[in-house]
Amino acid sequence: MAQEREKFLRQQSCPAKFSEVEAALGKFVEEQRQFQRKIVLVTSGGTAVPLESRTVRFIDNFSIGTRGASSTEYFLQEGYAVIFLNRDRSLKPFQRHFSHQNMLDLLHLDLETNSTSVKKEYESKVSRIVQRYTKCKEQNQLLSIEFQTLGEYLTYLQACATALRPLGSNAMLYLAAAVSDFYIPKEQMPEHKIQSSDGPIQLSLQLVPKMLEPLVSEWVPEAFTVSFKLETDKDLLVPKAKQALEKYKHQMVIANVLETRKREVTLITSQFSFPINLTAEEISRGVEIEERIVQQLKLKHCEFCEKNIPQ
Ligand code: PMT
Repeated sequence: MAQEREKFLRQQSCPAKFSEVEAALGKFVEEQRQFQRKIVLVTSGGTAVPLESRTVRFIDNFSIGTRGASSTEYFLQEGYAVIFLNRDRSLKPFQRHFSHQNMLDLLHLDLETNSTSVKKEYESKVSRIVQRYTKCKEQNQLLSIEFQTLGEYLTYLQACATALRPLGSNAMLYLAAAVSDFYIPKEQMPEHKIQSSDGPIQLSLQLVPKMLEPLVSEWVPEAFTVSFKLETDKDLLVPKAKQALEKYKHQMVIANVLETRKREVTLITSQFSFPINLTAEEISRGVEIEERIVQQLKLKHCEFCEKNIPQ
């Protein structure tokens, strides 16, 4: 198993910006340690699996990045520094509130002076978001790293986990990215764009080794690690989440079903199951489930740190 994993990681080409990212990670972690801040690594968005070496087409994992981007904002609010490992073009913290579609609706144009301003009804919301964003920038609390492919994601995941190792229990990993379980090995991948004129294609995909295993046992063993379990069949969800917890021996699995993920999740540890459900009224007020998740995680992480004081 370990050999398979090593082989898989060796096969992945090093991302072009790897050295730059590694240096930024080291600097960021060191700075946060000086301020004695806890750091959470939030992974977000789906990984892409290329079908050709000079990639035109790929298989994508479902995720818009809402979970990761909104959780990041709540972690920052709770005083954490955040390494945001995210899929390019997925939702970003703070920016997500200003999508291309809603941007123009937020603004008012004064025809006399030809100047624009935020409409009255949106002023308080916009200023709240801008205030939080400005504070996070001033305090240098957020480091963003982008990936596109499965290989890039796993390479950066290992680099981030390794960089967090010196923090011991003060590090949290919050693995919300939707990670592919299947891939095409390099030697089986055509170099050029697959031609439709050659007729229908049959793909043979290999299994990706689960990286939670080395992450928990080798890369960052003292951290507080939270993984997500996504299913579409509700009946499989809790048993599968418990299985993952037993197998990888990390601290928590957050179980969610694709269709209800924005209003229902269950936090599962070896000791308890804790459901979080938003009511229709809360949803209509714009309450986000990630706020509740992060509040619970902060408490659990504190308890964990008290039991595992870092050297
Ligand atoms: O971004 P949104 O649109 O808001 O959606 C959020 C979400 C549904 C994507 C998120 O809440 C979520 O559930 N993310 C995890 C999805 C996932 O990959 O689940 P899984 O059951 O396939 O994998 C379970 C765990 O194994 C994951 O934590 C993953 O990091 C890990 N894994 C997966 C594949 C792999 N090769 N190695 C791994 O370690």
